[in-house]
Amino acid sequence: MESPRFVVVGGGPAAAAAARRIAEAGEPVALLTVEQVAPYDRTALSKDALLDPTAEVPGLWPPGATWRDDVFVRTRTPVAAIDPDAGTLTTDDGTMWAYERLVLATGAEPRRLAVTGAEGPGVHHLRDTADASALSGALTSGARLVVVGGGVIGLEVAAAAVHRGLDVEVVEAGPRVLGRGVPAPVALWLTALHTRHGVRVRTGVAPQEVVRAPDGSVTGVHLSDDTLLPADLVVVGIGVDPRTALAEDAGLAVDDGVVVDLAMRTSHPAVLAAGDGVRMVPPAGGRGVRLESFTAAGRQGEVAADTALGLEAAFTDAPWSWSDQYDATMQSAGVPPTEAEEVLVGGPEAPLVLSLEHGRLVGACGVSIGPGIARPVRAAGRAIEAGARVDLDALRAAGGDLPALARVLRDAAG
Ligand code: APR
Repeated sequence: MESPRFVVVGGGPAAAAAARRIAEAGEPVALLTVEQVAPYDRTALSKDALLDPTAEVPGLWPPGATWRDDVFVRTRTPVAAIDPDAGTLTTDDGTMWAYERLVLATGAEPRRLAVTGAEGPGVHHLRDTADASALSGALTSGARLVVVGGGVIGLEVAAAAVHRGLDVEVVEAGPRVLGRGVPAPVALWLTALHTRHGVRVRTGVAPQEVVRAPDGSVTGVHLSDDTLLPADLVVVGIGVDPRTALAEDAGLAVDDGVVVDLAMRTSHPAVLAAGDGVRMVPPAGGRGVRLESFTAAGRQGEVAADTALGLEAAFTDAPWSWSDQYDATMQSAGVPPTEAEEVLVGGPEAPLVLSLEHGRLVGACGVSIGPGIARPVRAAGRAIEAGARVDLDALRAAGGDLPALARVLRDAAG
């Protein structure tokens, strides 16, 4: 086959959005992914796919769209090397592809637990459909599960496992769960919710060893405080590392993520990059940010595609994320710097934390039973993108009335 001018490497939301955008512009595009299927909604893997093993994981492209005829998907196709100056890449079976513009969207890899016994049967990670079906198959009612890591993945797995009848304990190394990017009031609200559902949450401890019987099956987790937790099954959700080896070997700038500007340009003009695997550095410089967000990855993919097509584009969105646990939803907008001032609004039923920098809104994160928190967080996202100041008195006066909070934030966005 003659190579299309545009090639996308990856199979997640960033790759899917980039390929879609290019095809929608009427340009043929090849998408090369290591996965066994075309891009699907990875966010379902820690939620619906575990709650209901028969649920189908939704694809990311609408079936039947005419632009899909212009996307050539190659599954099970790892890319082995890129030669940016030659404008070629080689897949692991030795096939060479030529491109004019390349979008790298290779994503991130779950971190492994570096202790004795952590590799082998009974210890699960969760990133792709194969991981999800292996884990779902292991969620036997009555089994004892230790979840290592109280991040988004760990807590979503804990909620699903309780639903499936398991006995669940979460082990978090930090002083509280969700230490990466979620304000304390929201994290503590979720901890209390898990406790009400019977999950035991331990903080400030980390596994020292996954203990196994002579036949190799998991029998427990030995913790740093010398506790031995009995366990039949372990899930490790201790964060992700960007997959940068291809970019690094190709000589592209990499700094815990492929370094890109807001137009998603890497250090080579013919190569764009997007998604969990990139570090986005603004024009003002600094180290920039590596976002781990499904929606931001999709938007970055679109920006990369537009740039590849020769259009003016930049990522200026306030990244939006969510997590569903039991009947609660946590939502957040923006990426507040650690030094931002946090203001707690909302009520005990649904806390909302706003992050301010020099009086301007830079972040919002809240949680509620049911979807109530969605409206204020979405309104906050627009206010963040507008660089708006917020009326704290009006927000406090709204109390726990979520529609009223949303109105104040919408007014701020203008
Ligand atoms: N023992 C216990 N806890 C640990 C250990 C350890 N050895 N190492 C790290 N942790 C904890 C961290 O303190 C953190 O609270 O694991 C948690 C990992 O949380 P995240 O960084 O949110 O990562 P994770 O939950 O694995 O999610 C990975 O999936 O849904 C996406 O946005 C999510 O991109 C993220 C990815």
